[in-house]
Amino acid sequence: MKILVINGVNLHMLGKRKEEHYGAFDLKQLEDCVTKYAKEKGVETECFQSNYEGAVVEKITKNDADGIILNAGAHTHYSYAIADAVECCGKPVVEVHLSDVENREDFRKFSVLTRVCVARFFGKKEKSYYEAVDFLIKNK
Ligand code: DQA
Repeated sequence: MKILVINGVNLHMLGKRKEEHYGAFDLKQLEDCVTKYAKEKGVETECFQSNYEGAVVEKITKNDADGIILNAGAHTHYSYAIADAVECCGKPVVEVHLSDVENREDFRKFSVLTRVCVARFFGKKEKSYYEAVDFLIKNK
């Protein structure tokens, strides 16, 4: 099994963003620990980050993974282009967030991705990604 881990806009700034919301890891550390977690369960990962909506759309729709973990950053809240890509990609996509998006500013409470994703994990920093790995394994 192979899982594609996509981090979208501004996730390259991890380590410099608010630690109380996003944790202390930088992007490489986050990718490494998710990769290690998946590997222990016999699952291969590919990690991808982009700040560009179109690049995220292309990666969602063109890859050889069995499932996708997607943290679309702020695009979560308004990108119908990414939502359409999720809907038509033919693979299970799990929405994740490091922070507790339900208990922050109002604009973060709404996600255009939830409707088209198979599950949603948030508020547990890197553990949100671990929950997504477990979900994809369990539902493969
Ligand atoms: C985020 C939450 C979003 O609201 C925010 O814009 C991000 C990161 C998270 O991981 O908690 O960039 O997706």
